[in-house]
Amino acid sequence: MKIKTIKEIPEIKGKKIFLRVDFNVPIKDKKIQDDSRIKQSIPTIKYLQEKGAKLIIASHLGRPKGEIKEELRLDKVATRLSELMGISIKKLDEVISDNVRKEVENMKEGEIIVLENIRFKAEEETNDENFSKELAELVDIYVNDAFGTAHRKHASTFGIAKHLPAYGGLLIEKELEALSPLIEKEPARPLTMILGGAKIDTKIGVIRNFIDKVDYLLLGGGLANTFLYALGHDIGESLCEKDKVEVAKEIITEFEKQNAKLIFPTDVIVATELSNEADASELSIEDVSGDMKILDIGKDSTEKYCEIIKKSGTVIWNGPVGVYEFEPFKGGTEKIAKCIANNEANSIIGGGDTADAIKKLGFDEKSFTHISTGGGACIEFLEGKVLPGIQAIALS
Ligand code: 3PG
Repeated sequence: MKIKTIKEIPEIKGKKIFLRVDFNVPIKDKKIQDDSRIKQSIPTIKYLQEKGAKLIIASHLGRPKGEIKEELRLDKVATRLSELMGISIKKLDEVISDNVRKEVENMKEGEIIVLENIRFKAEEETNDENFSKELAELVDIYVNDAFGTAHRKHASTFGIAKHLPAYGGLLIEKELEALSPLIEKEPARPLTMILGGAKIDTKIGVIRNFIDKVDYLLLGGGLANTFLYALGHDIGESLCEKDKVEVAKEIITEFEKQNAKLIFPTDVIVATELSNEADASELSIEDVSGDMKILDIGKDSTEKYCEIIKKSGTVIWNGPVGVYEFEPFKGGTEKIAKCIANNEANSIIGGGDTADAIKKLGFDEKSFTHISTGGGACIEFLEGKVLPGIQAIALS
């Protein structure tokens, strides 16, 4: 799907532009833990600002469900944006009101206003028609650069676009350039997908969409346990979605039909507790039993996965292969990241936990071809779904 981008806006100077970004950043103890999403929005903000737009920026933060939650106000985010850009940025305490309208009317070219958390209004998530219109009436042009929220059909990601000339920002453009070839064109082969994370549930759609596309699917994390259980292995007390065992069996059969390789860990790191002090051991999958929990992939599996990565033309990775947050169980994820980083393959990292793991383990983002800012959005894109936020800015 091709989109209209901000490079095609005929006249930016003096125009009021509603820019939807995804500033949904992790905040702990009142501090922003990772400002990547803010940084990734800056090229679009600068592009529009330097061309003389009056920029009205909107984002959500967390899930306040239509209520004002003090800890979810956008002040910290606006301050960080202002620091990163080295300019002063006005933050308003409301999403829409007479005061907001007055502030917007008085803006000068190149000025930036950040609105309050758009999800303080229940009408945002219901994609309310009147609310969408009210937002649209504030401005002349709509720009969406919130790739991370593009899978949500909300007023500021979808509804508003009907009422204004609508364009995509540079981040959305970058994400589409990296992700679209994986599903639309023939990616460099072999195409290897590594899937981990806790649950099979959120990844079933991706697996199904890639069954006839991948050459190798390497499994790790809690997700692999359900497959191992479906294959008849004793997985002790490991995380397992027993209600998904039939789905796992179907997927295994589908892979056999397609002659693609579905690869499971043959050795694992186990412990009876999840902590930094846990007494962890490395075992063949055949030896797991009793109260053991599988918490990472083992050395042989990691080496085997790395051999496959080395000969791949494209690697897509979504979901850590172990509980990397704890020292004894971070080895698999760390080695897989290192192997991808040190190889030539086009490497696409799905956002969310995987991006977080890469950063926490100290890898340079530049070692990977693309790290998506989308968690759920990236997954849904890889499932082959049309994302409402992209649809709204698509070339008709
Ligand atoms: C995300 O962090 O994945 C996006 O900001 C979307 O957030 P949501 O899942 O609360 O819609």
